[in-house]
Amino acid sequence: MRWPTSFLASLPIIGGDSSLSRFPVWRNPTVRMFVRYASAALVATVLIVLALAPYASALVEQWSRNDVELRSRLVFNSIRHSFSELLAANDKAGIEDLFARVANDDRVLGLGFCVDPGVLRFQTKLMPSTFSCKKAARSETASFSSITDDGTHLIAASFPIAVRNAKGHLVILHDLSFATKRSAEARTFLTAALVGIVLVSTLLAALAVLAVVRRWLIGLRESLSSAAQGQNIEEMTSRLGPIGEELRLALRKMDLNRVASVDTERTEWTAETIREVMNGELANAQVIVVSNREPYIHNHEADGIKLQIPASGLVSALEPVTRACGGTWIAHGSGSADQEMADSEGRIRVPPDNPGYTLRRVWISEHEQEGYYYSLANEGLWPLCHIAFVRPTFRAADWDTYRAINERFAKAVVDEATTDSPIVLVQDYHFALLPRMVRARLPKATIITFWHIPWPNSETFSIFPWKEEIVQGLLGSSIVGFHTQFHCNNFIETADRFIESRIDREHASITLSGRETFIRPYPISIEWPPAALGAQKPVAECRSAVRERLGIPAETHLAVGIERFDYTKGILDRMLAIDALLTAHPEWKGRFVFVQAAAPTRSKLPAYAALQAEAQRLAAEINDRHGINGVAPVHLVIRHHDPAEVFELFRAADVCIVSSLHDGMNLVAKEFVASRDDEQGVLALSTFAGASRELSEALMVNPYDPHSMGVAIERALTMPAAEQRERMRLMRDLIRNRNVYRWAGQMLLDASRLRKKQHVLEIAALHQNGGKRRS
Ligand code: F6P
Repeated sequence: MRWPTSFLASLPIIGGDSSLSRFPVWRNPTVRMFVRYASAALVATVLIVLALAPYASALVEQWSRNDVELRSRLVFNSIRHSFSELLAANDKAGIEDLFARVANDDRVLGLGFCVDPGVLRFQTKLMPSTFSCKKAARSETASFSSITDDGTHLIAASFPIAVRNAKGHLVILHDLSFATKRSAEARTFLTAALVGIVLVSTLLAALAVLAVVRRWLIGLRESLSSAAQGQNIEEMTSRLGPIGEELRLALRKMDLNRVASVDTERTEWTAETIREVMNGELANAQVIVVSNREPYIHNHEADGIKLQIPASGLVSALEPVTRACGGTWIAHGSGSADQEMADSEGRIRVPPDNPGYTLRRVWISEHEQEGYYYSLANEGLWPLCHIAFVRPTFRAADWDTYRAINERFAKAVVDEATTDSPIVLVQDYHFALLPRMVRARLPKATIITFWHIPWPNSETFSIFPWKEEIVQGLLGSSIVGFHTQFHCNNFIETADRFIESRIDREHASITLSGRETFIRPYPISIEWPPAALGAQKPVAECRSAVRERLGIPAETHLAVGIERFDYTKGILDRMLAIDALLTAHPEWKGRFVFVQAAAPTRSKLPAYAALQAEAQRLAAEINDRHGINGVAPVHLVIRHHDPAEVFELFRAADVCIVSSLHDGMNLVAKEFVASRDDEQGVLALSTFAGASRELSEALMVNPYDPHSMGVAIERALTMPAAEQRERMRLMRDLIRNRNVYRWAGQMLLDASRLRKKQHVLEIAALHQNGGKRRS
């Protein structure tokens, strides 16, 4: 039989309540729950009764039959003696009298005496006429048989009797119809009793359940509203007993999902957003930044102590973020007046004009600086990772110093930590061993290490003599970040090849000794709008000021290159491109100047000294070859430039050339774009800089091919203003959205996510331990 679906849907227990919802009382969820519960219990009862009733009847009938059999035996035993005597005396009248007295009992229908071969010799008067001795079982012992007489259910009990002159069976007939009646009564009673018990217990259970559910609902409501308001849910949920524990876990998971669902693409990232993340997601979390380069350097100069902001992409990215987070920045105190300006622990509040965080300076001797910074970091890891055709050099003693300095900074992190689970943001290749060292001392810390330079493929990295230690050191981090997915992949391959670990490619994680480290791309960027832009004059004024200062005619086209004097930046290659351009297009001679602002860096190292000498020689050669009317095409300015000067140069330029041979990201490219609020200027960008993955509207150049790079520079110099604007707008939009606050924000949100996950696991472990203790 098929039930109409509308009927099924209308059954409250099945869930259909559309027809009932017109009754106001049905809209009450508690009533609905109770009715559903009660109707389900009723249906269950009916089914139970239907299932049990046949058994109950059979049982009652069996009882009744046993009863009758027992009664038959009693009757027989009570008359046996008298009957035997009367039978022996063949006293027919006495026997009929005896039978009649026994048959007075309501349930005894009749008595008879059967002799072989089944002849009824004596009987009571009301013996059913249809009875015959052949219907009753007769044997050597007492036997009982069921007989139906005219629809009436009878039991014939026959007992063997033998006297001198006679032998036969005394038959006692009982009416069993009372058993049928009894079984019907039993069924009715059973049904009534079961329905009654079920209804009463349902009612009591429902009331108890409702009371508990009501308490849970109130607690749930309060906990949810506390969680929504960011309040502590511990106390609230603890009042709810075991369900409270479950609720707490669920709320934490929800919270994790909430963090995960922050749309970093759509959020407008500013210093304020970082502060919100710190006050919300990471309230009470301490942030400790570790880098080699410090954000503020105090130097003795002829006219007193001077403050210098170093030419470092790392510093320009992290400084505004640290200002927003507060906390502590641990770095090498490299300035000649640094000790004087800091307290006895090396601490100083910065920025000096508006302190927002603590700079903790760590002291490193000249000798240690040689081994750790110049040699291992910058003669070993730097050329190794950049693959810029400068042979890396490795010395065991330098490695020892590198390890010792990592230890010193790790100790400083522990000293500065005010909680057992700070967020430690480790920067760059100077501190590959530090994450593991910090992890050993602060197991609950969230350590995010950002590797600012490229990570080469595993084959190239295999050159590094202590590769296993470096990779293991980095895997002390909770997250290791790179600028690009490509570098993440290279790192995972390197770990896969050189250390015993478990790689999970789906989640991009590496598990070493039971600890999981996530490998993530975080493309670094710059502050938006850049602080240095604030004090800038209009572009036209910058153009004339710079040209005047450099002594070049007002209408001259200007290309700039601004960076540390590093062989990875392709400074020689871009000069060769300019040579190629002026050779192919002599009409640009006297009308085009290239200014290379190069901040001296790591000059002690032979590769850097050689680069500087070669750049000076090449510039002179090009100027000799292409200089005309007193206009030298290449201006090499080797000195440190303040951010304001850098931005003025950017704004004065028609073209900015970033021709890195290999670069993690390259923030100069992004700063140039950010400086051009007039939406003019062209960026010529190396395809080997990480920035080329994002700034695809730049003119891409191959620094290894001076000819094609010369062609690109010429194209940049002649690009129509409208096209410049289109390209510049798109790039500015991208940097505005993907600024350094987003870079840091993504890392902080990931840190928050990991911390919450860790918290959940801790609670779950407590649960488990508690459970084990209880069991
Ligand atoms: O590119 C890696 C990096 O650490 C940059 O972040 C920074 O611009 C540069 O190297 C700093 O070099 P140094 O601190 O050695 O002058």
